[in-house]
Amino acid sequence: VQEIKVGLMGLGTVGSGVVRLVERHQEDLWNQTGCTITIEKALVRDKQKERAVRLPEGVLTDKPEELLHHDGIDIVVEVMGGIEPTRGYIRQALETGKHVVTANKDLMALHGAELLSVAAKNHCDVFYEASVAGGIPILRALVEGFSSDRITRMVGIVNGTTNFILSEMKKNGMAFEDALAEAQRLGYAEADPTADVDGWDAARKMAILATLGFHTEWPLDEVKVRGIGDVTLEDVRFAGQLGYTLKLVGIARQDEGKVEVSVQPALLPDEHPLSSVDGVYNAVYVHGEAVGETMFYGPGAGELPTATAVVSDLVTVVKNQKLGVNGRSVVAPYREHKPKAPAD
Ligand code: NAP
Ligand code: HSE
Repeated sequence: VQEIKVGLMGLGTVGSGVVRLVERHQEDLWNQTGCTITIEKALVRDKQKERAVRLPEGVLTDKPEELLHHDGIDIVVEVMGGIEPTRGYIRQALETGKHVVTANKDLMALHGAELLSVAAKNHCDVFYEASVAGGIPILRALVEGFSSDRITRMVGIVNGTTNFILSEMKKNGMAFEDALAEAQRLGYAEADPTADVDGWDAARKMAILATLGFHTEWPLDEVKVRGIGDVTLEDVRFAGQLGYTLKLVGIARQDEGKVEVSVQPALLPDEHPLSSVDGVYNAVYVHGEAVGETMFYGPGAGELPTATAVVSDLVTVVKNQKLGVNGRSVVAPYREHKPKAPAD
């Protein structure tokens, strides 16, 4: 039996889910890969902190080099978040031939092209399914499922925290701040929740969706962003009385080679399919020229749903290693010129 040793960077909400899932589904993972998967090292900031999961003696470390310079570690799973030092750690991992699985949309939206290029040079994989829409395998769907089609439009609720807040305000009359505190307690929110509230988390996800869906490199600073920071309980109630539901919606469209990506609060008629997406759930509507309308729905954040995406990527990397190949398929954009935004 081959043993695959994983270096886990981060043991918070998602990291704990990864540990639980790898333990709980070890037999199913073995049935698919013929390998046992072991968490060899887990990097944290504070080793003394109370943890949701227990790891064997010597696994927990606060020294990144113990993980990054560990010859036995084949794959690094990055679930610590942030841009630096994370970007440097991932580069080091790739440069020493370690494959990387990450849930980090901040990093992938800003530096995805750079990291994918370092990975390619070193014949390594970087997979990031968990970075968009938590437990919904939407990146796989875009890269593999629709590779034959031409996607024209993607409309999504891609931030669980704000959707949870808006749902609680509408359904239970909860105050904005109380709903946000509850989303933080449940592990849905980012370390800095203004990224959720101000729409930046959704913008990062929409930039990733546009990049993969439209086969172009869509920069974050070209996403028009407005969050829900100024939405009041009154707004939500008033919209409800008129038969509308307020949602934070991401829109990416491609029309005759021109692309536009935005995130904004939108009033949707109550009978609109996205209006009934409640709580931490996300949904992504994808329209393709040939396939027509499709809709993907599922939990968009939280420990185990997000861990399913991370561990699925891990399984893909292990299968690739056995086959001696890299990549699921080409994920870097090959379009030479960035399309222009449509004129207003
Ligand atoms: P979290 O609960 O705050 O956990 C972060 C973990 O990383 C903690 O264990 C922390 O150590 C460790 N860490 C942070 N900075 C570090 C550093 N500089 N050196 C060493 N360890 C460090 O975060 P999370 O919610 O699990 O999210 C992790 C990543 O997944 C983020 O990129 C997030 O955007 C993404 N994500 C989260 C969700 C979700 O539902 N939460 C869903 C999809 C994607 P300590 O424990 O010692 O503080
Ligand atoms: N903070 C993010 C959200 C986590 O609420 O959607 C999942 O990416």
